[in-house]
Amino acid sequence: MKQLLLYCRAGFEKECAAEIQDKASSYDVFGFCKLTANSAYVIFEAYDADGLAEFYRDYPFEQFIFIRQWSLLQAELLELPPADRIAPVIAAVLAAELNGCGELRVEYPETNDGKTLSTLARKLTVPLRQALRQAGVMLPKEQKRAPVLHVFLLSGQQGYVGLSYPENNSPLENGIMRLKFPNEAPSRSTLKLEEAFLQFIPKPEWDKRLGGGLNAVDLGASPGGWTYQLVKRSMMVTAIDNGPMAESLMQTGQVKHLTVDGFKFEPQKKNVYWVVCDMIEQPQRVAERMGDWLINGWCQETIFNLKLPMKKRYETVTDILALLEQRLLDADIKYRLQVKHLYHDREEVTVHVQNRVLKF
Ligand SMILES: C[S@@+](CC[C@H](N)C(=O)[O-])C[C@H]1O[C@@H](n2cnc3c(N)ncnc32)[C@H](O)[C@@H]1O
Repeated sequence: MKQLLLYCRAGFEKECAAEIQDKASSYDVFGFCKLTANSAYVIFEAYDADGLAEFYRDYPFEQFIFIRQWSLLQAELLELPPADRIAPVIAAVLAAELNGCGELRVEYPETNDGKTLSTLARKLTVPLRQALRQAGVMLPKEQKRAPVLHVFLLSGQQGYVGLSYPENNSPLENGIMRLKFPNEAPSRSTLKLEEAFLQFIPKPEWDKRLGGGLNAVDLGASPGGWTYQLVKRSMMVTAIDNGPMAESLMQTGQVKHLTVDGFKFEPQKKNVYWVVCDMIEQPQRVAERMGDWLINGWCQETIFNLKLPMKKRYETVTDILALLEQRLLDADIKYRLQVKHLYHDREEVTVHVQNRVLKF
């Protein structure tokens, strides 16, 4: 097969398509995308199966921005009659000569219609897994390091079958990080920063990089969803916003609230580890300001959102980040940059930059 199945947020199919075309062509893999607006998935069909397989193996999945999950399709769209949805899947995976799969994920597009399939997906998983084991396609026990078989339901009657590899896929069901909203947090935005920490900072490094006692600055902080995440991790936070901060946060004694312009604020001392920024502003302007923070050595790490209300969102993000990276290179900053359209992001992406030369 020479098709990839790609998951994204509904409404971002064009960005997903632009991204796969861009990245695949950088590996000399060419093809075309099949997409429907607001379907939350895209199919990329390459002209050359071998080239696609190589790209699929070698391109680091974590570097995608808009693509939440990817799998190599194993068959054309399957008809799944409600009377027996299992037989067509077994027939397709046997025809594709699959074996040794360690995990089954029955998934669906993240759309309103798609979500109605969650019960079916759950119900189908156990009997389908049993049938796949009996057919020798899946290993007798779940094995997290073996290939993952994806059944992607488009409806109760149709679905795709894909394969992904745990060393280069999203470990999450549907490619989505589900988080519980903490009731004490002052805004739902809090989940964006929590997801960003989980996405970008390896757990074993949390104590050092997200631990107590670090100083943080939150630009565009009101009412305090992001500050809440920093306070929760015992950091001392300077919250910058003309708007009010939640009283519960102020009472912790860990927050200093300044009603000044986030684009003009400069820290007095070079003791700030994190600067985070959720200001609703032009993404070019935000990225430029975050570049200033990094180049001036005002912070060690930053997480910021780039709001993308415009068309051509993929091009906008890549252009802005290319400029930022050029500035960092020119300033001789050793950095690591990651960017992702997180599940809790809407018309925006989240960027993380770490200055790799440690000051702390
Ligand atoms: C999306 S809200 C931030 C939500 C916040 N992160 C939370 O989790 O509760 C954007 C905030 O940016 C602030 N803002 C926009 N431009 C700003 C500027 N130039 N300086 C400071 N704050 C600004 C707005 O007042 C607004 O409160």
